[in-house]
Amino acid sequence: MKVNVLVLGGGGRESALTWKLAQSARIGRLYVAPGNAGTQAYAENVDLPLQNFAAVKDFIIEHEVGMLVVGPEQPLVDGIRDYFAADAGFRDLCIVGPGRAGATLEGSKDFAKDFMQRHHIPTAAYRSFTEATLAEGKAFLAGLKPPYVLKADGLASGKGVLILNDLKEAETALEDMLCHARFGKASAKVVIEEFLSGIEVSVFVLTDGKDYVILPEAKDYKRIGDGDTGPNTGGMGSVSPVPFFTDELREKVERLIVRPTIDGLRRDAVPYTGFIFFGLMVCAGEPYVIEYNVRMGDPETQSVMMRIDNDLVDLLESACMHRLGEQRMRTDPRTAVHVVMAAPGYPDKPQTGAEIRLPDVSAVGDGVIFHAGTVRDAQGAVRSGGGRILSAGAWGEDIEAARRKAYALLDRIGMDGKYSRTDIGLDLCR
Ligand code: AMP
Ligand code: GLY
Repeated sequence: MKVNVLVLGGGGRESALTWKLAQSARIGRLYVAPGNAGTQAYAENVDLPLQNFAAVKDFIIEHEVGMLVVGPEQPLVDGIRDYFAADAGFRDLCIVGPGRAGATLEGSKDFAKDFMQRHHIPTAAYRSFTEATLAEGKAFLAGLKPPYVLKADGLASGKGVLILNDLKEAETALEDMLCHARFGKASAKVVIEEFLSGIEVSVFVLTDGKDYVILPEAKDYKRIGDGDTGPNTGGMGSVSPVPFFTDELREKVERLIVRPTIDGLRRDAVPYTGFIFFGLMVCAGEPYVIEYNVRMGDPETQSVMMRIDNDLVDLLESACMHRLGEQRMRTDPRTAVHVVMAAPGYPDKPQTGAEIRLPDVSAVGDGVIFHAGTVRDAQGAVRSGGGRILSAGAWGEDIEAARRKAYALLDRIGMDGKYSRTDIGLDLCR
């Protein structure tokens, strides 16, 4: 049976999800809210205020939507699932994304750390502090070795983590966060944790709360500059698979982290249907959880979706029906690489509004362009409307081939002042 699907969000992640959903044999009408100038090629963009759940509900009724895929974390943390669960008329709506309780894994770092400690999931040692315990926090810092890792407890659009080398600076930052709302309400509580030195990898799981499937893993490139230099960004590129993520490491991650997380949620009576993104640090061959996210990653999803051979509607529906145990992941053995094209001035002050000249999509071959911050002007031309504008991706027999094709595709996209890293995937080439 065909199903009408609504995807919430409009970034590169949602472009990739929508692109993959559009290929499903089961797809009926496909909507994305708000989408971007690129999603129009495979879905219908709709203008819905995501924080207005009643508007989303009206749209779902009017357009007979059977599946709601929530891209970003904010609506989940705000309880969009609970909103529909409270209405008996939506019992059959398949919602991909956890309720408020499950979303707390991302919405509160303190909660996530406590959860991991209780369920013996490997993570950096930590303590949490509030304004009332500032003095203890400073004393705790003084007893640690640098660098110092300070994390705002709540959602801070990926900016709430500080890694500082100097003790005085760390003390001042802690005070700023706790007493002067450096990250708003998100930093009313701060997690201070041990610094882990290692190599990061992103692991994604789709779960129905009991069973799960592990999606292809990916590596993300967070810093703005080549060689991992300069400020953090939303992510400048991604690669999947990750060569150092061996079968042995995958087995360890599943046994020590994935299974205990799903079992822990069940033991805590937290129902969970949706994606879990495990941000991992691998230190001397041992995986540790740096953070949980209750959604897919961006720009990892762009490479991950290119490597999933399963029908995505089938997979997501199985999660909603608690039948994921019957599903097996089928993955494309090729490598996928995505290179993000950003606006000049990104990440601090991106300049938007530039015209983007795109190649004829049918001529792209092994490549795919996923839009992120793009809009169409009154004349129908595509213009930049955000810091990360789009990503050029490609499949290849290995990382070298995939990155060569991705960069060749990127070269064919015209925009004044366009910026990309030149070394996506280079560290993983042998
Ligand atoms: P998060 O927002 O928790 O993913 O943190 C942002 C980035 O900070 C991570 O991707 C890591 O690169 C780094 N980071 C976070 N926690 C630690 C830690 N305990 N040790 C070392 N690096 C960390
Ligand atoms: N790529 C990291 C994130 O989506 O948070």
